[in-house]
Amino acid sequence: MCGIVGYTGYREAAEVCRLGLLRLEYRGYDSYGIATLSPSLSVYKHVGKISDSATSSNHLRGDTGIGHTRWATHGVPSEKNAHPHLDAKKKIAVVHNGIIENYAELRRGLEERGVVFASDTDTEVIPHLIAEHYTKNLFQAVESILPMLKGSYALLIITEGEDTLVAARNGSPLVLGVGDGEYVLGSDALPLLDYTRQAVYFEDGDTAEITRDGFTIHNKGVSVSRNITEIEWNADEAKKGGYQHYMLKEIFEQPEVFANTLSSIKSKSEAVDMIRNAHAITIVACGTSANASMIFSYLMEGICHIPTRVILASEFKYFPTMFTDLVIGVSQSGETADTLAALKLAKDRGSQTLAITNVLGSTITRVASLVLYTRAGPEMSVAATKSFTSQVAAFLQIVNLLSDYKLETELSEIKRYLPEILSTDLSKAVDLCKNATTLLYIGRGLFYPVALEGALKMKEISYIHAEGYAAGELKHGPFALLSPKTPVISTCVSNCVYPVMMSNLKEIKARNAPIIVIGKNCDKDLEDVADVCIPLPAVSEYGAVVLSSVILQLLAYQTAVSLGNDVDMPRNLAKSVTVE
Ligand code: G6P
Repeated sequence: MCGIVGYTGYREAAEVCRLGLLRLEYRGYDSYGIATLSPSLSVYKHVGKISDSATSSNHLRGDTGIGHTRWATHGVPSEKNAHPHLDAKKKIAVVHNGIIENYAELRRGLEERGVVFASDTDTEVIPHLIAEHYTKNLFQAVESILPMLKGSYALLIITEGEDTLVAARNGSPLVLGVGDGEYVLGSDALPLLDYTRQAVYFEDGDTAEITRDGFTIHNKGVSVSRNITEIEWNADEAKKGGYQHYMLKEIFEQPEVFANTLSSIKSKSEAVDMIRNAHAITIVACGTSANASMIFSYLMEGICHIPTRVILASEFKYFPTMFTDLVIGVSQSGETADTLAALKLAKDRGSQTLAITNVLGSTITRVASLVLYTRAGPEMSVAATKSFTSQVAAFLQIVNLLSDYKLETELSEIKRYLPEILSTDLSKAVDLCKNATTLLYIGRGLFYPVALEGALKMKEISYIHAEGYAAGELKHGPFALLSPKTPVISTCVSNCVYPVMMSNLKEIKARNAPIIVIGKNCDKDLEDVADVCIPLPAVSEYGAVVLSSVILQLLAYQTAVSLGNDVDMPRNLAKSVTVE
């Protein structure tokens, strides 16, 4: 939530910041702002997305600057609440990602001392506090006020009269790109990619002073050194590459991503051993990562016979007695606040911890004892697609490596059929969905999480109310919703639950709700019951899980496009949820 960038070097800082913010727009897109030094402080703010901005920050001059793209927490999206925030004399500019929890108390104190606030944000206390402590050295002033702040922050700060960029991190991500005569900072590595692949990932408690000639980092008042890491991603991976939307590009990358993830997980790895040796596993995750994790729990219980449950990360703390020897945090971004908090709590309770993530250097990689990367490449669309498939690939491969029941044939089938599933004709299903008031997704066993994820994709980007249900639960309430305006969507393949799923579909048909079914080659029984039958190739149950999930992603995408929605940046959402 919220993305920040900073630059100091030899280029026009405003343009570097604007391009960097475009790369971070997935973190929030209510408003954006940039400040540069030339040598006086100039500020530009805009309400709405960067890409929609009719004017631009191009008139700002100077080779040192900071920028921010916002997902509103304190105060509505508006120009006054957009960052950067300034002190009363408009000399000091601050961009902030995170939440200052004690801002109300700090604000009261500042107001009693005569400070007039210009915004409703928690952030604005920071420039005013710095101004009170400033005596010609920005870094020292920042260091002296940070102990007053409670909460989480990644901060970038500049002031008139100093060619210095000051950075601080506590609980919110911040990366420094080390270029040749220039430095670029970002909430993640994406804004750095056009300038350098050398990155320093700040630790909590770090404060840094950066000029174009070098940088120093302090932690608890002591100078520290941090390793420079090579970023694995490249700039092209983070571009649309001719696709209309990032989401479509990422859906189409899935055949490659699935194969990459499979081959990246090796039998002889500490992470796989950790899972192999666990007596019971708890997975903590949110959103799409939680849905993918549910698939893992069915696989682990069904094939490996290791008790495995998924707890939504935000609920984990409400189970104070819960202890399992291994707790796995699954997070695409590695920055989701609830997942990080749950994993820290699990560690405190004495569990071993493993992170499964896509992002090198993300916070979760420092929280967990061991890390397993899914290697899906940068995912820009707010609606997760390839990260889901890569997580499922990782889970299938882990089960394949752990169990006597080998999944090699099933995995090869998925690799073979993934490219062709991308051209499935979904036009009839889209027509049914786009006119619906509610969509119910149902499934049993492994197809229950598939239903949850299908519904999540649809509601995120089409704004049509969609719910995933275990098929057996339908009669316990949702049946009351059935009508010709509530299509029911299901994957129904010939496995042990096929007969009971067929009965469920007939019960739904008897109540006049349209049925969209994804089934193997659409046999006669399915044709009879379904209004729309979407054929799957003759693959195993595991193959059907992956292929039908991809079909449901495409169904959500095409429905949202047909409704004219902003697919990559759905209203009110952000990709990286870094606040509780
Ligand atoms: C947000 C995103 C979802 C994502 C969830 C968990 O809600 O919009 O796409 O699934 O966060 O994110 P994580 O990075 O932890 O997987």
